[in-house]
Amino acid sequence: MKNIAILGIAAILVLAAVLTVKLFGATEGFPQGPVQPIEFPHNTHVMEVGLECADCHQYAEVSIHAGLPKAELCMMCHEDEATDRPEIIKLTKMYEAGQPVDWARVYTVEDHVYFSHRMHVIGGIECQECHGPVEEMTTAKPVTNLEMGWCVRCHRTQGGPRECITCHK
Ligand code: HEC
Ligand code: HEC
Ligand code: HEC
Ligand code: HEC
Ligand code: HEC
Repeated sequence: MKNIAILGIAAILVLAAVLTVKLFGATEGFPQGPVQPIEFPHNTHVMEVGLECADCHQYAEVSIHAGLPKAELCMMCHEDEATDRPEIIKLTKMYEAGQPVDWARVYTVEDHVYFSHRMHVIGGIECQECHGPVEEMTTAKPVTNLEMGWCVRCHRTQGGPRECITCHK
């Protein structure tokens, strides 16, 4: 009986491991993100070029949305930086055609939930606490599923408000 139970548990563990790899992919140790129109490398721009998160996500301190950069900003460098690479050629074509780069969203809260970057960022919470080590990623990968429990757990440990109406207006 005991052996059968152990075999059963082992089988469940193997199945769980296979499912985990299937669901989240195994690339670079981060879960799979959506396919983006341009394979944008965060790691290069933060670690090598030395840009700050706020250089491209300009509204995190003042607004609900952190904001995504427009092609104009990219082209300030890519008019003459790496112009021979396929991804930059693609970017330049979109820019010249006046076609916005339609970045696929990685994180979205449900419509019935109120979230704003402003108070979190002013309160001193680092981007990485919620979004993981983006500076090690190429395109951003989802490190949390934004469940209510995730929000509330942090509010409990870091002293955020917990009344229902804070997040459900
Ligand atoms: C401050 C200058 C700067 C800005 C702004 C900038 N980049 Fe870059 N980008 C670089 C540099 C430098 C490299 C590295 C080139 C190399 O590998 O020699 C790079 C590399 C890249 C690459 C990789 C090219 C390859 O295949 O090797 C992509 C894709 C890219 N950038 C897209 C973007 C996009 C999209 C934006 C706007 C959201 C952007 N960049 C904004 C400077 C910049
Ligand atoms: C307390 C957790 C938390 C912190 C801290 C945080 N974010 Fe977010 N971020 C979220 C959530 C939740 C969403 C989804 C929001 C939505 O759907 O409106 C999001 C969405 C985004 C988006 C896409 C939509 C948008 O707002 O434009 C970007 C870009 C982003 N975050 C960047 C950042 C950057 C950069 C920082 C640091 C300056 C940061 N975030 C700090 C939780 C956080
Ligand atoms: C050169 C510009 C640039 C810099 C610097 C940059 N990002 Fe981004 N970020 C982008 C672009 C372009 C996207 C859209 C593609 C993607 O999802 O990776 C993006 C997407 C994101 C998203 C996902 C938004 C969504 O769709 O929900 C998060 C989170 C994020 N960035 C966080 C950060 C953090 C944290 C830093 C600093 C460590 C940072 N970014 C630095 C350009 C930048
Ligand atoms: C990493 C910790 C952390 C996470 C994760 C987090 N919060 Fe917060 N949140 C805080 C803290 C701390 C405060 C109090 C900020 C202050 O008043 O300085 C706060 C304040 C708030 C406020 C009130 C301020 C405002 O912006 O109106 C709302 C609403 C809120 N959080 C919603 C959410 C939602 C929704 C989520 C999940 C999607 C979430 N938070 C995830 C730490 C967090
Ligand atoms: C810190 C933010 C936060 C607080 C506080 C909070 N919620 Fe939520 N709630 C969320 C988020 C984010 C979701 C959406 C994700 C999910 O369904 O888990 C959610 C989802 C829900 C849902 C599910 C709705 C659906 O579509 O199925 C219910 C019901 C709910 N909340 C009730 C409450 C009640 C009741 C309270 C007070 C006791 C409360 N919430 C407090 C963030 C919060």
